[in-house]
Amino acid sequence: MHTSKVKLEEWVSISRIHKAQRSTSKSTSETIQGKSKTPKVRHRRTSPRVVYRTKSGFMIRGSAERVLKSSLMAKYKGKVQLIFTSPPFPLNRKKKYGNFTGEKYSEWLADFAKIFSEFLTEDGSIVIEMGNAWVKGEPTMSTLALKALLAFQEKGNLKLCQQFIAYNKARLPSPAQWVNVKRIRVKDAYTSIWWMSPVATPKADNRRVLKEYSESMHELLSSKKYNSGRRPSEHLIGAKSFLKDNKGAIPPNVIIVSNTIASDRYVNYCRNRKITPHPARMPKKIPEFFIKFLTDPGDIVVDPFAGSNVTGWVADILGRKWISIEKDESYANVSKIRFAKSVTTKKLGRKYAKRGKRGPKK
Ligand SMILES: C[S@@+](CC[C@H](N)C(=O)[O-])C[C@H]1O[C@@H](n2cnc3c(N)ncnc32)[C@H](O)[C@@H]1O
Repeated sequence: MHTSKVKLEEWVSISRIHKAQRSTSKSTSETIQGKSKTPKVRHRRTSPRVVYRTKSGFMIRGSAERVLKSSLMAKYKGKVQLIFTSPPFPLNRKKKYGNFTGEKYSEWLADFAKIFSEFLTEDGSIVIEMGNAWVKGEPTMSTLALKALLAFQEKGNLKLCQQFIAYNKARLPSPAQWVNVKRIRVKDAYTSIWWMSPVATPKADNRRVLKEYSESMHELLSSKKYNSGRRPSEHLIGAKSFLKDNKGAIPPNVIIVSNTIASDRYVNYCRNRKITPHPARMPKKIPEFFIKFLTDPGDIVVDPFAGSNVTGWVADILGRKWISIEKDESYANVSKIRFAKSVTTKKLGRKYAKRGKRGPKK
């Protein structure tokens, strides 16, 4: 396992990149060609661009819609083993990073199904994590997330390989109005994770995600004694069924996470420089599980809605190649810190400390 460091020379502040772009009407090889030779400022700002790279991957700032259709990505079609992502949620009100709402959200998400599939290898997977959405102003759940996922699956002609949930033991009570104030609902404490693929048997191996055996299993393996026979559930347990040491237990489709991310390096970096950290960071355990389960070292993992780039970071640590896409310039840039063990980040810090006070760009 290794983590690639961002090369020093790539720690160029965004202002320098902008300056260079202003001084030439030509795009860099890593910038999509604008239609006009002298594009307007607004156009230049939204052009997808690689904002940093490591030995194993790179982060592109731009909207997934544009980036995935751009020349930057063309050569990766048919090469990606896993698209792992947590798209913006279907909120009924707009969040900081500008989600679609209502039916528009379903259409928007479903439109990605085909393009995602075009990037996959023959046995590749798409994994989408999505939290629950609630109807505004009343204690009922919105079915929009489910509808959107079904629309996505149908439009891409994808198989649902398995559904998972990520249970957060330490989740604060929400929706607060119904849980804390009125006390008529219980805590919403899990997100759903949908593993899909164009094929029924994408690459997967649960031996790569074995859990530590429980104490009783360790005892059983050493004593080699247990009650075989029929269980109340009607399952017949053979005399030798559980005596083989498989080096760990097969995990369930429930991933238990906790808020251990509250003080990781990314958060400390943001805190020290008064930058608002990404509001929907995913615990690293989730991408770690799916990357190990569904890919081999050297495979390519893509996150089209990368946020603080937990996916790219974990993929990098696990020796996979990665490509991350994030629309928000500030999120994309600040995520560099995840890769910079010993690189000084003063420039980046100063630049974004200012914006961080009023929150990331909307
Ligand atoms: C739920 S967050 C992802 C969080 C991420 N998994 C993490 O752990 O940091 C969704 C991200 O998608 C980004 N986003 C929204 N629309 C986008 C688009 N069209 N293209 C690319 N990124 C987009 C948002 O800025 C936000 O950072």
